[in-house]
Amino acid sequence: MITERVKIEEAKEPDLNKLEKGARILREGGLVAFPTETVYGLGANALDEQAAKKIYAAKGRPSDNPLIAHIADFHQVDTLVKEIPKEGRRLMEAFWPGPLTLIFDKSEIVPYGTTGGLDTVAVRMPRDPIARALIRLAGVPVAAPSANVSGRPSPTTADHVWQDMNGKIDMIIDGGPVGIGVESTIIDVSGDEPMILRPGAVTQEMASEVLGRKIGLDPAITGTGPVRGDMRPKAPGMKYRHYAPKASLTLVEGQMEDVIWAINQLAKEKLGQGFVTGIICTDETRDRYSQGIVRSIGSRKWEESIAHNLYGVLREFDDLNADYIFSESFSRENLGQAIMNRMVKAAGYHMIKAEDMRKGIEK
Ligand code: TXA
Ligand code: MG
Repeated sequence: MITERVKIEEAKEPDLNKLEKGARILREGGLVAFPTETVYGLGANALDEQAAKKIYAAKGRPSDNPLIAHIADFHQVDTLVKEIPKEGRRLMEAFWPGPLTLIFDKSEIVPYGTTGGLDTVAVRMPRDPIARALIRLAGVPVAAPSANVSGRPSPTTADHVWQDMNGKIDMIIDGGPVGIGVESTIIDVSGDEPMILRPGAVTQEMASEVLGRKIGLDPAITGTGPVRGDMRPKAPGMKYRHYAPKASLTLVEGQMEDVIWAINQLAKEKLGQGFVTGIICTDETRDRYSQGIVRSIGSRKWEESIAHNLYGVLREFDDLNADYIFSESFSRENLGQAIMNRMVKAAGYHMIKAEDMRKGIEK
């Protein structure tokens, strides 16, 4: 299949003529990747089971992992869900359009091919003007997982999508780099108590403030080890090894001075054995590392920069064929909850306490 690439200038009002063809492809059951404010999505008509099947094939994704239906206008949600609970409505009004996905009981028209066989449906109204214009023109809700091959870091530029999807989908709409860089927050409002299934840029604090009480987190998120078979995370996607670079990634935790020391030791050892070795640091510590391939992921003073660069840095290490990557770890406050959730999964839960290592060596 030949994948067409269409460049759209970033603007408040995107050029609709350029989006027409993509909208038609979606309506007719094809696949179109497009930018959103979180990551690039791989879109198909959410009401067309055959189109959803093509998404799973292009991504190599297990078909029990449900898709998010993206909408452009508030009235569209009514057709997709059985009912909108009061707290769900408050969250919609506060954060849509934006990086929040809500889980509702699904209506009859949503096929099980989109929901991975579940009786619930995930709905999100993105804020990105290109995404919304495309969905509106298509005239159908658009199912869109992140536009990466299953298991790879999510794409934050059209080039990332091209690397994974060229030849497998009909069109890639290039709207430049995304803003946020990590996927939307998912909150399940279909049960008795709203619950966060995946942390994102709408933070636990922000959502709790709107509801006037603290929203809980699915235990599968806060866990420090891989999700066990008997844990059954509520968002099926959370059980797969996600966001993973090809290299073995280790997160080093502790006091900054210990962390810098430990990462330098670990990198030296692997370089000495002849491995391609990377270090992920921050603008504040960039000067403290002198060996291996050193990349700053952003500034600790501005956690948005870390979220924004996270997947791009992991993909760059893939391109450089890194064998080992050692990374500083980050605060779990606010947006940090989403950042660390993705980093810990990318590391396959492989974490080292710098202090223990130092003690071990100095003993
Ligand atoms: O920011 C985002 O949400 C991006 C952009 C493209 O909008 N999309 C995205 O989709 O991250 P995806 O497919 O990569 O992740 C969707 C997650 C998966 O973990 C899936 O299991 C969960 O949402 N999910 C979808 N429907 C669900 C449902 N009915 N119940 C529980 N979890 C659901
Ligand atoms: Mg994904």
